[in-house]
Order: sequence, then structure tokens, then C-alpha cells
Amino acid sequence: MRKFLVVVFVCMFFVSGFSVKITMAMGTTGKVMEVLYEQLELFSKEYPNIQVEVMHLPESSTTQHDLLATYLASGNPDPVVFSIDCIWPAEFEPFLVDLSKDYEYFEFEDFFEGSSSSVKVGDKIVGVPWVIDAGMLYYRKDLLDKYGYDVPETWDELYQTAKDISSKEGIHGFVWQGARYEGLVCDVFEFVRSFGGELIDGETVVVDDPQYFNKNVAAITFMKKLIDDGISPRGVITHMEEEARRIFQNGDAVFMRNWSYAWILANDENSPVQGKIGVTTIPKGPEPDGRSSSTLGGWSLAINGNASDEQIDAAKKLIRFLTSKEQQVYKSINDGTTPARKSAYLDPRTLEAFPFFEEMYEVYLAAEPRPVSPLYTEISYEIQVAVHQVLASNKNPEVTLKELSNNLRNLMSY
Ligand code: GLC
Repeated sequence: MRKFLVVVFVCMFFVSGFSVKITMAMGTTGKVMEVLYEQLELFSKEYPNIQVEVMHLPESSTTQHDLLATYLASGNPDPVVFSIDCIWPAEFEPFLVDLSKDYEYFEFEDFFEGSSSSVKVGDKIVGVPWVIDAGMLYYRKDLLDKYGYDVPETWDELYQTAKDISSKEGIHGFVWQGARYEGLVCDVFEFVRSFGGELIDGETVVVDDPQYFNKNVAAITFMKKLIDDGISPRGVITHMEEEARRIFQNGDAVFMRNWSYAWILANDENSPVQGKIGVTTIPKGPEPDGRSSSTLGGWSLAINGNASDEQIDAAKKLIRFLTSKEQQVYKSINDGTTPARKSAYLDPRTLEAFPFFEEMYEVYLAAEPRPVSPLYTEISYEIQVAVHQVLASNKNPEVTLKELSNNLRNLMSY
């Protein structure tokens, strides 16, 4: 009996002695949270001594940034693990665990180049790629067929097609992300670059550079025209990804700009547009410099530098599990996000769930990053405010972009 009690006691000591609790924070969009819980259940079977508590963050990347910045700066070890947007590493680097020695452990060579370079800051690696994003155009295949239109390749074609079909069907033409937050900046870069423009080149502000200024003005003017001419609803200036998706999924828009996660949801068996939609590249702006441009987005998993050694060790195990090929396939086919791991992207199960992935592979490879800077949040804020003023009021795009150049130059000269 005594022997038995000693064994029980030793077992209890080991279970509690080695059990570690970590908090994981993540934003909520579409089905990502639901699928994370399923994955964590699988993880707990493999690692019963690691307890993961989930902290729900809001949908907006901008709000998530502000909350995490406060947590990290406070010196708190929680959350231990969190997903970071691909534009944050340069700013958050001082607060994150350097994972450069774990390159092999996380099988870094398998990630899309855009995703892995987004987490490199100098010679440090501050996160492990989890999801890659690239902007894409969703369209109603059934309605384009009904009215005899081809899939638009240019913004002008999109405008004409959306105008005609939306007036005949009594629905919106084109929905996108026009609220004043990070999503607007992603859309702005696509409009601007597809018109042949650019806002920042390396560390130089080029908004008013003679090579780009007129194209930048034309792009922002076009965004405003979409609203003024009723192609996009007035409410687009309050839309984030989910508002756009709900309208499109409900059958209330011909076109939508969004990321891949909307595909699985819009094709759900309860979706009014199930089987009626297609996905293509972002349209080109006018000749001669018009081209298609997709903004690179995505999320990586990072570890809080204030966490204890045990927590950091447990966090690495969790991150390795969640970013493994098998889990990336699972996540992707269940919540619709795109795997940052190429082998998971090209897995037959993923390609079957996303018939457009084969064609979009090049788009993911060529997706264009937003400016890389520790001041990115401030840069983004200036762009958001400037463009949103044009969209929400009658502020002149030319004057606004001149002001934006000055503000960005002041900001970046420090
Ligand atoms: C997506 C992208 C992210 C971007 C955000 C904007 O989540 O992955 O990079 O900043 O959308 O809303």
C-alpha cells in the first residue's frame, strides 16, 4: 500500500511539476477561432502537460496591434503566444523571442518567401509564418454568365460590368475594405500600384514624385468615384473584411475584394452564393502602366519575450505543432485561410478545397509587401486618415496626397 501511495505521489508530482500554462491571443475573423479550438484539442492530446488558454482579440488588425503593444510594453508575460500581422515585426522586435536558432526546428525553408522575410528583422527571426494572404477579386460567376460578361481584367471593365449588373439585379456592384483601419491601407496599395503609382519606395516617400503623383491621384479618385457613382455602397467607408464578406455571401454584390478565407464561408452549404462564385486577380489600372497588384498579408506566431523559460519552451512546441504541414492543411481547409507553408498550400487536399489556388500560386509568390519600418503603424495611420477623408467627404485627392507626402516626410525624417 505504502509503495502504491509513493507511486501515486511521484506521478502527481511529475504531472503538476511539469505542467505549464500558456496564454495564446488571436483575432477573430470568420471561422479561425472555431478551428483553433479544434487544433488545440489535438495539441493537448500530444502534449497533455501544456495547458493553452485562448485570449480572444477583436477582428481589426489595427485594434489588435494597439492591445498587444500595450501588453508587451507593460512587461507582462501574457499573452505568451500571439499571432502578429506581417507589418508588425520591425516595431515589435524588441519585445519578441528571437527564433533564429530554431530555423531547422520550424522548417523555415518551406515557407513562402514573402512570409518568411516578413518575420526577419536584421539577423533575428521574430515569428513563424502561419497564414499568408494576398488580395483577390471575388465575382459572381452566375451573374457574369447571365449577362454575357467576361471576368474583368481591368478596373474599367469591373466598373462597367458592376454598373450594368448591379442596376439590373438591384444589388451592389463592388464591396471592399473602406473603413479607417489597416485593411483600407491594403486596398489603397492595390489601387495605387495597379494604376502604376507608389507611395513609399524603401525609405523614401514618393507620393508626390513626378513619376507617380498623377497615377496616385487617379487611383484615389477612382476609389472615390466607385462610391459617388453607386458602384460601391456609401457604407463601404465603414466596411472591414467581414462586412464585405457578409454582403457578398448574402448575394448582395457582384464583386468583392477580399482574402482567401472568404471562399470556404461563401461556399458553405447554407450560403446563398454557394457554387456561384469565382476568384481572380486584382484588376489592372489604365494603360500604359496599369498592372495587377496584390497586397501581401498574413500572420505569424510569435513569443512574448517576458515569458518564462518553461513557457517559451512550451510555446515553441505549440507553434511547431500549429505551423506543421498537417495542421496548416487542416486549418486551411476548415477555416479558409491560406497556408504559409508551400507544401501545405500544394497539398492535394488544399488544392481540392481551393480550385483557384493552382492559378493563384504565382500571385502569392508575387504579392507586394507594405512598407517595412519600425514606424509602420504611424505611416499606416497617415495613409488611412488621408484616403478616408477623400472617401468620406469631398476633400480633393490632389490636395490630400500633397498633404500626405508632407506628413509622411515629416514622420520618416526622424
Ligand atoms: C488580413 C491580412 C493582414 C492585413 C489585414 C488587414 O488579416 O492578413 O496582413 O493587415 O488583413 O485587415
